Amino acid sequence: MTQERTLSIIKPDATRRNLIGKIITKFEDGGLKIVAQKKIQLTQKLAEDFYAVHKDRPFYSDLVNFMISGPVVVQVLEGDDAVIRNREIMGATNPAEAADGTIRKEFAESLEANSVHGSDSLDNAKIEIEFFFDKNEIVG
Ligand code: CMP
Repeated sequence: MTQERTLSIIKPDATRRNLIGKIITKFEDGGLKIVAQKKIQLTQKLAEDFYAVHKDRPFYSDLVNFMISGPVVVQVLEGDDAVIRNREIMGATNPAEAADGTIRKEFAESLEANSVHGSDSLDNAKIEIEFFFDKNEIVG
């Protein structure tokens, strides 16, 4: 097992329903430590840039509009195999396919309003962490 860091976002559907604490508890109980965290309102430009990899997908503009529809919590999670561990704790992207006990199974409203985002690889985790955090904002 390797110590890794990954980027996590608690999305507007979850902040709107006051679920931040319940979601953070899932990460902590799952063995991940929060080493950076802030609640922010994304601008259209930030959301477009963050999801630029999806810019040719049919859901891109809806996704951007959803991500700016309310505040989000961006955070860096640290732990053994954090990228995969985070994805296990979140559950499948589509909540209809998410396993019992996962965040998306318990809290997500739909494929779009799926409560959390997590980096899909270690390379993307580095890029996504740097997108939101300066080095001095991350405290292990
Ligand atoms: P996320 O992990 O944040 O990465 C991209 C997001 O696009 C995804 O979670 C979903 O919330 C959203 N999305 C909307 N429609 C789709 C789709 N058809 N396939 C994948 N992701 C989708």
